[in-house]
Amino acid sequence: MKRIFSGVQPTGNLHLGNYLGAIRNWVNLQNDYECLFCVVDLHAITMWQEPDELRANTREVTAGLIAAGIDPKKNIIFNQSQVAAHAELAWIFNCVARMGWLNRMTQFKEKAGKHKENASIGLYAYPNLMAADILLYRATHVPVGEDQKQHLELTRDIAAKFNNDFATDFFPLPEPLIFGEATRVMSLKDGTKKMSKSDPSDLSRINMTDSAEEIAKKIKKARTDAEPLPDTAKGLEGRAEAANLVGIYAALDEVSSDEVLQQFAGQGFAGFKQQLADLAVAKLGPIQDEMRRLMGDTTHVDQVLKDGSERARELAEPTIREVQDIIGFLRA
Ligand code: AMP
Ligand code: TRP
Repeated sequence: MKRIFSGVQPTGNLHLGNYLGAIRNWVNLQNDYECLFCVVDLHAITMWQEPDELRANTREVTAGLIAAGIDPKKNIIFNQSQVAAHAELAWIFNCVARMGWLNRMTQFKEKAGKHKENASIGLYAYPNLMAADILLYRATHVPVGEDQKQHLELTRDIAAKFNNDFATDFFPLPEPLIFGEATRVMSLKDGTKKMSKSDPSDLSRINMTDSAEEIAKKIKKARTDAEPLPDTAKGLEGRAEAANLVGIYAALDEVSSDEVLQQFAGQGFAGFKQQLADLAVAKLGPIQDEMRRLMGDTTHVDQVLKDGSERARELAEPTIREVQDIIGFLRA
């Protein structure tokens, strides 16, 4: 059986990187797999979150998933904290994973910054919780953006070590699904940094809640270089900002970067940016309208999460029971 699990943090605005790198792919996968999509609020609190904002962001991300086209009847959409088994299995994985493995995680190094003594233990153990998310449902495939590849490898290591330690084949080794023309959308202000919710500059990202005017303004102000656009994607090497904008265009239009460049070869960025802005507004507009509508209907959004959590709990229950037996926890 093929089962998908993926997650997104409710830590701020959903942005174009989340949409093109992850959420849009989820929409396309929902017909071929049994899917669980999780708003990972336990992961969110590895960094400080204002309680009211956390609640609002949880609803906003949920609305974004539904608005993007994920059907909450066919799939399970829920928030992580409401299924206690995530935290339970994460503890067990804290005892399976090795310090040396976690010390290699680049996301921790980036997020902890210079003062890693001040980072929460949760931020350090974050990948173990992510492994628990996936393995709790014995998911086989995990669609994510490029930045999560290392965490997926760790998940496989944890599954393999657990299986090996207890001489079982209980956990499948999940496969990452990283695809599309925008597996790594970069900041509009710096082509070496990924587009991120935590970037202090709002001009660095296109939020799913931005108006058409804001989208156009941000694309217009996006950093580029002085060269005209090349005629193939190969010509974008060493031009991170240009490559990023072409990649975004390609992903939005669902064509390859080469095809985009056939249309714009030899031109400067002014006209290209105008067309990119029009394309972005045309593709995102309907999703944004639906998101706004849903954010005004918190009863519906909350009901989706409630129903999803119940269904997720049912699926998680047998895994936890079996893991307890495998480990030797007495269930008297
Ligand atoms: P996060 O916002 O970190 O919870 O990420 C949610 C999903 O979006 C994950 O699958 C990430 O890999 C993906 N994602 C986040 N930022 C980007 C980006 N800049 N480009 C592509 N995918 C991204
Ligand atoms: N760590 C992921 C991110 O920041 C979110 C996440 C949590 C996730 N649990 C997951 C993604 C399980 C895939 C599967 O993007």
